[in-house]
Amino acid sequence: RRPAGAPDRKLARPVTKVGVIGAGLMAGQIALLFAERLKVPVVLTDVDQARLDKGVAGVHRKIAERAAKGRLTPAQANRLTALVTGSLDYQAFSDTDFVIEAVFEELSVKHQVLAELEKVVSPEAVLASNTSSLSLTAMSQHLEHPERVIGFHFFNPISVMPLLEIVRTAATSDSTAATAVALAATLKKGPVLTADAPAFVVNRLLTRFMAEIIAAIDEGTDPAVADGALAPLGLPMTPIMLLQLVGPAVALHVTETLHEAFPDRFQVSPNLQRIVADGHRTLVSFTDEGVQVLDPAVAVN
Ligand code: 3HC
Repeated sequence: RRPAGAPDRKLARPVTKVGVIGAGLMAGQIALLFAERLKVPVVLTDVDQARLDKGVAGVHRKIAERAAKGRLTPAQANRLTALVTGSLDYQAFSDTDFVIEAVFEELSVKHQVLAELEKVVSPEAVLASNTSSLSLTAMSQHLEHPERVIGFHFFNPISVMPLLEIVRTAATSDSTAATAVALAATLKKGPVLTADAPAFVVNRLLTRFMAEIIAAIDEGTDPAVADGALAPLGLPMTPIMLLQLVGPAVALHVTETLHEAFPDRFQVSPNLQRIVADGHRTLVSFTDEGVQVLDPAVAVN
């Protein structure tokens, strides 16, 4: 079914090669999904060879793991592995029809990436961003073709979460949006079309959900009681497990964006700030002194 607000599907353009900017965890999951479901070549890039090699190797390893579990035949695994490659040269993107960036959540970096891409891709190629909360309008400012910029925001873990936010700016063309919606269907995601508002729709709700539990703990409720309070609802994860899945740095970044936009509605937890400032990316636990990092061996990022 076409999502509400989707433009005429006849306006969608074919996608025969995909680019992914960034080779981190999200980028790797995105590349794998495109190769698997769209069955087209996917090229990744990053700022240096070491990061790129690590990212591409991570995708290839994941494919091998699925084959080892019998979820892919050896032939399927080989085909999939061959589809996912890396290049440090932006020229490798010159024949892509759809490029998605999943780099560090910093507006100036993302803007620069899109501006660089614009120099090499065709004017019809879609430039998408996996940003969790940043303004697509600001990101596409000063581009020659802002009409081909769109938000394409996945949720963790990408292989299983059906949700995808497709974010249009005032400048996004119907054909760009139709291409994104058609692509979402091929990727087997159920997209919601949102406006270019701070943190769009889903992260506003999720951030509220996670932040209220942290606030309750910051205000003195026993951590296990607060985190377990919603268990009878049968949610797949507690708020703190979800925070861990998202990653404390990403969760903090989204909260700060929302606080800036709606200071009366979103507060930033000092404990979360401290965890991120201390460089922790590991599981958190709670003590009398507040939220504490638990086992450094259980790193998820
Ligand atoms: N961390 C990372 N990946 C995990 C994971 C974890 N803690 N738990 C499971 N996975 C992955 C597995 O590796 C597997 O991946 P694969 O299919 O690529 O091999 C896949 O999830 C399915 O694993 P399981 O069969 O073990 O699935 P479960 O039945 O245990 O369910 C779950 C796991 C799907 C993560 C479930 O607990 C769930 O739905 N949790 C809620 C997730 C959620 O709300 N995500 C939204 C996060 S917000 C976000 O991403 C937006 C961003 O902008 C902040």
